Amino acid sequence: MARSEKGSIEKYFKNDAPKEVRTAIEKSSKGEILNPTYPYDERMERKDYEKQMGRLQIELVKMQSWVKETDSRLLLIFEGRDAAGKGGTIKRFRENLNPRGARNVALSKPSDIERSQWYFQRYIAHLPTAGEIVFFDRSWYNRGVVENVFGFCTPDERERFFRQVLPLETGLGNDGIKLFKFWLNVGRAEQLSRFLARETDPLKQWKLSPIDIAGLHKWDEYSQSIKETLARSHTEHCPWTIVRSDDKKRARLAAIRTVLHALDYDEKDEDAIGPIDPFICGGPDIWD
Ligand code: ADP
Ligand code: AMP
Ligand code: MLT
Repeated sequence: MARSEKGSIEKYFKNDAPKEVRTAIEKSSKGEILNPTYPYDERMERKDYEKQMGRLQIELVKMQSWVKETDSRLLLIFEGRDAAGKGGTIKRFRENLNPRGARNVALSKPSDIERSQWYFQRYIAHLPTAGEIVFFDRSWYNRGVVENVFGFCTPDERERFFRQVLPLETGLGNDGIKLFKFWLNVGRAEQLSRFLARETDPLKQWKLSPIDIAGLHKWDEYSQSIKETLARSHTEHCPWTIVRSDDKKRARLAAIRTVLHALDYDEKDEDAIGPIDPFICGGPDIWD
């Protein structure tokens, strides 16, 4: 894909963005949530967030000791549209973890050699070994969504992916790998506002890719592919956890709580973990 022209996001914002999206951004004040279907009007207070996150960080450290002591294997998959907050959420999970035993896997587009292999092969190489927690920032679900939207795979290849993905994930589970699948859900105006920030902030520019820019015009194609992917890859044993991520703080807390609640690590403090907000986090029924 061609390199993105400077100012492409600003240009899209001014000329092509749906009117309601543009208006929402223009009228927004700091702290306001831009997504009309989001269950809260305001972003969470930083003080509350930090207090709750501080307690979760201690639980995460205990959880990692348990993973090491019991030779457990954890695989956390993070999916979502561009700028949904996958990287930032992973960063908060890992903030106080021992990097020896916690790994990120963020693969770029497949090379020619990888393209000639079984689709899952390059991911398999990165699965956790005993005592490890592995974070997938994007995953084999590329074939369900981005590859479909941009025509990077054929319909036959995508069908094969859907036939193979649940047996594969079920197999990983049967072998003892604990798998979590997170889908971060961001609204259209919030996504565009994050892209605008990426275009102007020198620290965020690396996050902006040609796919992000080409994807601006493909919101509905993405929605359709996401809907289908969730419907075809959500089962009792390999469920998706949808996290509404228009407010990054609420999203991060909910994702971390989901993992902590699900694991029986030593000295677990249920009170410190706290409840998962059912308006923010749940099954595919909360995706929109
Ligand atoms: P990210 O959002 O992960 O920073 P991009 O927005 O550039 O990265 O791309 C989104 C995803 O699409 C990435 O996982 C990337 O590897 C994948 N991708 C990009 N180009 C291709 C391609 N030609 N074939 C297959 N996958 C691709
Ligand atoms: P991050 O880059 O993830 O550390 O987020 C930076 C800060 O900007 C966080 O406190 C977000 O809540 C805030 N933020 C992100 N997008 C918006 C927005 N559209 N309006 C207001 N605040 C925002
Ligand atoms: C995100 O923000 O969701 C990911 O970290 C990166 C991206 O989508 O560009």
